[in-house]
Amino acid sequence: MMEDQAFGLRKLLAKKKSITNGKFVTVASGKGGVGKSNFSANLAYTLAKQYHKDILLIDADIGMGNIHLLLNADPSKNMRQVFNGVPIEQVIVESNGFYALLGFSGLDRLDELEELEFHRVIEGLERVSGQFDYVIIDTGAGIDAKVTSFLRASHTTYIVTTPEPTAMMDAYALIKSLYSLYGYQRFKVVVNMCRSRSEGVQTFEKLRQSTQKFLELELVLAGVLPQTPRIRQCVEARALIAERYPNENFSRALGRIAAAEAGARAIGGAAEYWSKVVGFLRGKA
Ligand SMILES: Nc1ncnc2c1ncn2[C@@H]1O[C@H](COP(=O)(O)OP(=O)(O)OP(=O)(O)O)[C@@H](O)[C@H]1O
Ligand SMILES: [Mg+2]
Repeated sequence: MMEDQAFGLRKLLAKKKSITNGKFVTVASGKGGVGKSNFSANLAYTLAKQYHKDILLIDADIGMGNIHLLLNADPSKNMRQVFNGVPIEQVIVESNGFYALLGFSGLDRLDELEELEFHRVIEGLERVSGQFDYVIIDTGAGIDAKVTSFLRASHTTYIVTTPEPTAMMDAYALIKSLYSLYGYQRFKVVVNMCRSRSEGVQTFEKLRQSTQKFLELELVLAGVLPQTPRIRQCVEARALIAERYPNENFSRALGRIAAAEAGARAIGGAAEYWSKVVGFLRGKA
């Protein structure tokens, strides 16, 4: 099993895609607990399974990453080992038909690395990312510099919110800060935990009107995802809803988001993504 996994990864890495093929997609929210990690993992699964894309899912929730729980993956393989000199290829785990890089906690300590080690880590991240069609980055909630560093460099940012007014307010604050501070505008909104499609559409409409009125920014609705007890059931079973219940409304709605993503052309430059991210993290850009 372990050997198979290493072999699969070697085969993938041998494919030598160009770095420009990769698409960096970030998943973010203002408020915590709105469903980012479940969305990220199921999007990764669906793009891999339905669209045969090579996917790298990165748990960049600095501090509280929990993607390994959703994927039932070995948490001892993580970025911290890379800082200690382990080649990055050896800490990538394979799960559910895609690849994952866990445990980014510590990325903000990059400054403490020696210059040579520092460049080795960045070079490793760039090299590995270039082999995938998509790099999906699940971030922690909020608008701090750690989170915005990942967002600012990405092609697309999915903003996950729920119909709850507090979640919407926080989503607006995140969008506002990225747009007004950095001119970033490649947002797509996902309204999760909706009781009906119209509740989701109305939630998006309110957000759209606010950004249009106060920021003169047009938002795009990526999709509306229903509230369902199946999610929790799947989390407890360490399974992905899109895999276990592909015909559930949640999985179907997510499938439509994946279809749009798979068909979308990359806009905005993400070349040298990692150099940019780390530059932002270090406050040098
Ligand atoms: N559509 C949904 N229906 C029902 N429950 C959901 C749905 N989406 C997520 N949840 C539940 O909400 C909780 C938070 O989900 P998740 O961990 O994906 O959110 P998060 O935004 O990544 O949280 P954090 O900000 O802590 O990283 C989990 O218990 C999950 O099972
Ligand atoms: Mg999360």
